Amino acid sequence: MRYEQRGRIPAKRHVAFREEGRLLTEEVMGFEGFSGNESILYHLESPCRVSDLGSFTALEREEWVPAAHAHRLFDTRSVEAGGDPVLGRRLLMFNDDVEIGICRPTEEQAYFFRDGEGDEVIFVHEGSGRLETTFGTLSYRPHDYVVIPRGTIYRFHPEGEQLWLTFFTPGEIETPNRYRNRYGQLLEHAPYSHRDFHGPGDLVTHDERGDFELVTRVRRGYQRYGLDYHPLDVVGWDGFVYPYTFNVDDFEPIAGRIHMPPPVHQTFQGPNFVICSFCPRMLDWESDPTHPAIPIPYNHSNLQSEEMIYYVSGDFGSRRGVDVGSVTLHPSGLPHGPAPGLAEKSIGKRWTDELAVMCDTFRPLRLTPLCQALDDGRYALSWAAADAAGREVGAGV
Ligand SMILES: [Fe+2]
Repeated sequence: MRYEQRGRIPAKRHVAFREEGRLLTEEVMGFEGFSGNESILYHLESPCRVSDLGSFTALEREEWVPAAHAHRLFDTRSVEAGGDPVLGRRLLMFNDDVEIGICRPTEEQAYFFRDGEGDEVIFVHEGSGRLETTFGTLSYRPHDYVVIPRGTIYRFHPEGEQLWLTFFTPGEIETPNRYRNRYGQLLEHAPYSHRDFHGPGDLVTHDERGDFELVTRVRRGYQRYGLDYHPLDVVGWDGFVYPYTFNVDDFEPIAGRIHMPPPVHQTFQGPNFVICSFCPRMLDWESDPTHPAIPIPYNHSNLQSEEMIYYVSGDFGSRRGVDVGSVTLHPSGLPHGPAPGLAEKSIGKRWTDELAVMCDTFRPLRLTPLCQALDDGRYALSWAAADAAGREVGAGV
């Protein structure tokens, strides 16, 4: 990320800085001890101040171990709406690097939340609203990735119906190394630029007394704290750590004369996983009559990774059983690819309007009972079931 600043800050760090004579409290919020990116915030109150130690609720990650190791298809559209924007997240799959869930919040977030043990990415499939944070307020809209670094105190204010794909990682969410120069600036060949990333808007400083609840995720659970002041009390901040949005419609797809591999779609990286965006794009244009391009993916073996894809929009009508809101999981150890006949059928196709979000993990994903409830159960057999007309089943990417 690049350097940003909001509100008032002093000319030098670590010096007396006052608001109407009141000495402000400086907080350095940084990664990797003091070696990673950081921001410095100036609070009206000490950020350590709590007036009540509430309950701790352990986060249970129940696992469903399927009887057979196989490709799977889940329909998340049947996940009922409910809950609030944080505790209403429903875990689909997880490992020690990433948790992936669905959230369709209908309730207000009645408390402030801070993720004290990981970064979060919310992909907004449907819905818009505001996100109040320590760093200022962000607005979000459909197709936004909302990236919230750990330590950020926030409260969502959804407007209208919401459908989110949620990610949590104990690591850091970053743009891929290969998109950046040695100073961190995004390079010309990256599929986006700094102009596409949007930090917080105006900083609103709250100087209010009262009873406020702060829920903090720590040690795989939720610790509740009581505060006697409004936690969004920052007068100013600057640095490289802050929440931001990136709209997937601003992703500039990289296309080729012949098939480009999935890494060209990479959007973010985390420890042992990547998040990719498959956006509407021109397809491979090699039109040599003897050796024309095959625009759909070749079969590939995920020898060391698991591939989870969430289908956002576009025409999936030719994929039996795969629709908007579907999730496919192609686990490690097995090859996957287009159904028989589909490669032939795709030759000459020049455009796709499909939009999908993919998360590839290098370590196996564990499934939850929610997956069991949403499991199609037949997808693994769909390659054998493809009919002679070449109807697409489980194309994968
Ligand atoms: Fe794939």
